[in-house]
Amino acid sequence: MTGFNEKNGILHADDVPLPQIAKAAGTPCYVYAASVIRQQYERLAGAMARAMPPGKQPLLCYACKANSNIAVLSLLRSLGCGLEIVSEGELVRGLKAGFDAGKIVSTGVGKQKREIAACLKAGIHQFNVESIPELEMIAAVASEIGKNANVVFRLNPDVVGGGHHKISTGRKSDKFGMSVEVVQKAFAAAKTMKNVKALGLSMHIGSQVFTVESFREAFEKIPALVEGLRKAGHTVSRLDIGGGFPIVYRDEKLLDLDAYAQWVRDIIMPLDLEIIMEPGRYLVGGAGVLLTEVLYVKETQDRAFLIVDAAMNDLMRPALYDAWHGIEPAQNRSAPATKQYDVVGPICESSDIFAAQRPLPAMKQGDLAVIRTAGAYGFSMASNYNSRPLLAEVMVNGNTFDIIRKRQSYEDILRGEEIPGWLKK
Ligand SMILES: Cc1ncc(COP(=O)(O)O)c(C=O)c1O
Repeated sequence: MTGFNEKNGILHADDVPLPQIAKAAGTPCYVYAASVIRQQYERLAGAMARAMPPGKQPLLCYACKANSNIAVLSLLRSLGCGLEIVSEGELVRGLKAGFDAGKIVSTGVGKQKREIAACLKAGIHQFNVESIPELEMIAAVASEIGKNANVVFRLNPDVVGGGHHKISTGRKSDKFGMSVEVVQKAFAAAKTMKNVKALGLSMHIGSQVFTVESFREAFEKIPALVEGLRKAGHTVSRLDIGGGFPIVYRDEKLLDLDAYAQWVRDIIMPLDLEIIMEPGRYLVGGAGVLLTEVLYVKETQDRAFLIVDAAMNDLMRPALYDAWHGIEPAQNRSAPATKQYDVVGPICESSDIFAAQRPLPAMKQGDLAVIRTAGAYGFSMASNYNSRPLLAEVMVNGNTFDIIRKRQSYEDILRGEEIPGWLKK
């Protein structure tokens, strides 16, 4: 069986019972099912393959900010993905996971000089450039180190996309991308620069975009822009159409991937461009759960709190975006949901709450629960807040599992900190 399913009243990841993983890795820990990552890759690549001919297939550059464990990266590389990175750290991870630098694209509004240099030295496919000052910096670094940079310009299409205002990136009030006029100026500026080759455009309108028409609306802005640029004598041979594909956390309407692929075929393909996509959440979100143990059940006059050993530093999304995650017991799953719990972590913040008034079976100290759909923007956003060790990550493959990241030790947490001499006893 693939994914997270119940067998004999116990939740399994593929064929491995979650209590067995809790015993081996401790809790809290993230558990990823490789089978789900494979399935999601095949769904997305399959929709594109059905809509467009083999020679026109997009390169799927996995947006590794969603989950950057090198085991996850290696799996996606083995399936044929390229990589989208936003920092030198992600470049290092990508190269360590064996990605060909020629399949890596660098994005982000604030690329630092050393990051640009590292990407140029590695020989990445392209920089997705977000402003003219950034273009000038890339040109300067490229000339300083004697390399050439391939760049595309990120269009801000001024459309609303993204499942929460904090993950919408394509409105003109957002810090991302450039207007049509600035893109045109950037192409003209690049022509005057020796070490820079402007090759096309990119866009990314947001994450968890379930207003699916936003994708089409953004695509429809591309043909006139491309034709105008070509008429002005510029090369436009690449288009990066970004990520943002939604997944189901609760009851969201899913994007019809076949319809999306047909928009790409009908609106973009006639422009004869190399197409790149940057899916993140879609590939890994549903592939992960956060496995946690109940520390205490605290009943007050007002409510019942389930205090678990996972906290907001392990999974930020509820605190950051008011995100809804399914929460389920990992054992005794046939018990009826007779209780309503506030499921909270141990951190000293009222925002350290995973769910309010959630119907669940009665639970007790030591029981295991899972927070569902936590494979994307889960571990990758985790922190050491309250000096809590970064948690372990586990990958299940059929009936076997591996700890793909050890829980941090306290030495790990303290590494690099120093008490100045004048404060030492
Ligand atoms: C430039 C860029 N590309 C791709 C992504 C991935 O988005 P998602 O995980 O929603 O597919 C992001 C996410 O923020 C992004 O900023």
